[in-house]
Amino acid sequence: MSRSLAARIIEASGPDHPADACLREFFRSEKGLLPCDKASISKTVFTYFRWKGWLDPQAALPDQIRQARQMADAFEQDPGKFDPQELSSRAVPGWVSEEMEVTPDWARALQTEPRLWLRAKSGTAPALASRLGRARPAGPDFPDALLYLGGEDLFHDKDFREGQFEIQDLASQAVSIQCAPRPGEKWWDTCAGEGGKTLHLSELMQNRGLIWASDRSERRLARLKARAARARVFNVRLAHWEGTQRVPTRTLFDGVLVDAPCSGIGTWQRNPHARWTTSREDVRELALIQQKLLCLAAQQVKPGGKLIYSVCTLTRAETMGVVGNFNLLMPGFVPLDEPGFKECRTILPQQYGCNGMFIAGWRRDAGSGKVN
Ligand SMILES: C[S@@+](CC[C@H](N)C(=O)[O-])C[C@H]1O[C@@H](n2cnc3c(N)ncnc32)[C@H](O)[C@@H]1O
Repeated sequence: MSRSLAARIIEASGPDHPADACLREFFRSEKGLLPCDKASISKTVFTYFRWKGWLDPQAALPDQIRQARQMADAFEQDPGKFDPQELSSRAVPGWVSEEMEVTPDWARALQTEPRLWLRAKSGTAPALASRLGRARPAGPDFPDALLYLGGEDLFHDKDFREGQFEIQDLASQAVSIQCAPRPGEKWWDTCAGEGGKTLHLSELMQNRGLIWASDRSERRLARLKARAARARVFNVRLAHWEGTQRVPTRTLFDGVLVDAPCSGIGTWQRNPHARWTTSREDVRELALIQQKLLCLAAQQVKPGGKLIYSVCTLTRAETMGVVGNFNLLMPGFVPLDEPGFKECRTILPQQYGCNGMFIAGWRRDAGSGKVN
């Protein structure tokens, strides 16, 4: 049964209907499904899109689904049997190699089932790990992060409902850790979305100081508000920002984070449908938007303050391209130079089994005035 339901969702998915949104819609409308049915349908849909590059588009959809499952099983048993060059050329569309380096290691990571990462309230990761069972600490660079290996639906977990932990990818956690906000500071999270990083920034600030969290999407900000209430985060002020010259406040901040909209290539392990709907034109358009958002937001960094730019993608245009242009346009900002971080950092999925992420950082010259 799950295969035929999965086929319906695959057919309904397209450029304007991402597979994950179709799945959510379907599960909302089909009330009788058990959690194990939902897990099985989701897995079939994602497996299909993960292995789409190997499938015969002329074959009937049920046959393609069967072939995708066989490929996934064979890969799980022995990834070494797959030719590295073939992996690189089939896992993603051809245009990708013109925008970034497509290595066999990256392609192998893309074909692997994604890991589930949690972020515990500060200092509580060991206790949470022993309560959940099947959870492992991520290591000293991520003191509050846990890799969850169990099969429970954590959205229904009591500790989750009480705001004791968040489901947050490790690469996303790395961004707030790089921001390193201090308690009592003022930060602006310019593209806060549903607040994954806002909540983490607040935790690092021990809920003290103030975070302006803005986004162009009111729907996402409403989600952020609910999540902040659940996590008992009290130092966040929400604001609408369309990414124009009309910034939500004239405040100068100790730190500004621009977690910009991007092509999302770093999430293609988790979100394989997007491999087949994202285009080179998206990359070009998004790089221009990122540039604009970064330059506008930079003006609200106070002298001596920090500016962090992050994108969950790896294309040259959206990473070093944006950084290079920013350095030319905004000479009053000096690239951050800190232990383990010199101007920027790229996290690859194959390093930790998390999303790919690019992070760049600057400090505004202490003597600089308003940038024009
Ligand atoms: C990468 S997501 C943010 C994810 C979020 N920071 C988190 O950690 O959960 C990028 C966000 O930028 C927002 N966005 C897109 N275009 C924008 C614009 N022109 N101005 C402001 N926000 C924008 C999107 O609505 C989206 O929520």
